[in-house]
Amino acid sequence: MESDKTPSNERQIFQPVTIRGLKLANRVVMAPMTRSRSNEEGVPPAYAADYYAQRAGAGLIITEATNISAQARGYPRTPGIWTDAQVRAWKSVTEAVHRRGGKIFLQLWHTGRISHPDMHGGSAPVAPSAIRPSGQIRVHDGMKDFITPRALEADEIPRIVDDYRKAAANAMTAGFDGVEVHSANNYLLEQFIRDSTNFRSDAYGGSLQNRLRFPLDVVRAVVEVWGADRVGVRISPITTTPGETPLDSDSMATYSAYLGALSALGILYVHDIEGVTQMSREEAGGVRFDQLRQRFRGAYIANNNYNLALAEGALANGSADLVSMGRPFIANPDLIERLRKNGPLADAPKEYWYGGDATGYSDWPTL
Ligand SMILES: Cc1cc2nc3c(=O)[nH]c(=O)nc-3n(C[C@H](O)[C@H](O)[C@H](O)COP(=O)(O)O)c2cc1C
Repeated sequence: MESDKTPSNERQIFQPVTIRGLKLANRVVMAPMTRSRSNEEGVPPAYAADYYAQRAGAGLIITEATNISAQARGYPRTPGIWTDAQVRAWKSVTEAVHRRGGKIFLQLWHTGRISHPDMHGGSAPVAPSAIRPSGQIRVHDGMKDFITPRALEADEIPRIVDDYRKAAANAMTAGFDGVEVHSANNYLLEQFIRDSTNFRSDAYGGSLQNRLRFPLDVVRAVVEVWGADRVGVRISPITTTPGETPLDSDSMATYSAYLGALSALGILYVHDIEGVTQMSREEAGGVRFDQLRQRFRGAYIANNNYNLALAEGALANGSADLVSMGRPFIANPDLIERLRKNGPLADAPKEYWYGGDATGYSDWPTL
């Protein structure tokens, strides 16, 4: 990482930085946030370009999680990147962000067992093993109980890797600056990683090396398309939602090995949800985030419940290279300016988080 030349009175967090040739205007990243405004075909609306462009003041935007294929879908009205219409819609988003001087990565998603037959014409969602998540999932007409997913056949897994490869190539066509592989929040990749959700006895389960095989195959495929310098990976070693997913039996060993392997692949960054997403920053399951970070030599994006003071502290003591914020960006399109000026932050009511239209999405005023 190199700090760019800037006026000396600018605080570190607001200073531009260049990471492997990627020039970022500051060190605040907009965290990926599902907002469920796409149509039934997974095409983002025209006003998604407004929403993202309004937030282009972030050093880097990571888009909402985006399905790599029809099979990847878990929730209604989430976007995709496998059809031409989806790629065209995303192109208008990236162009709008670039016009405002921003940088934007697409988050690549497969939900695995965190899905419902309603999303798949009545067929069961797929997972490493047939283990039912606990609780309920949001579907078109409310909430429904999770069902038991179908365990993937071994020969289906390379085809999913291919879906990631195609999605990554489509992201390039759509004009993104890079991609983030969603390996967090108990979706498909993390379902393979944790021994609580992977009971397989083939090459994709059992030993730690086997459990990491599919996620690392995915990252390698995406790196083939983009080059390692434009690929990030998101992790959440101790997050237990959704699906009340138990932790791995040795989270520290598992994620240390994963980060070591990602480091060897030379990817741009790891984006770490420290604690339980949106809930707490407490360490659990024997995980020490400061030690985990040492396993990875690329950039480290810290996330989860950061405010300005905490973010500046993490940057100052070197425990993060960049800090991402999610919820604060929902109602504060000009979040960077507000932080810089110590201005008031607006709070978005939860009813606007998922679904609906431009209201509560691309209509938040600047200061
Ligand atoms: C409405 C909403 C949608 C989210 N969708 C995603 C998503 O699509 N992909 C993802 O990796 N994380 C998602 N998250 C998690 C956020 O990226 C982030 O980790 C979390 O909000 C904690 O950061 P914060 O305290 O700065 O909000 C979502 C969070 C919220 C509030």
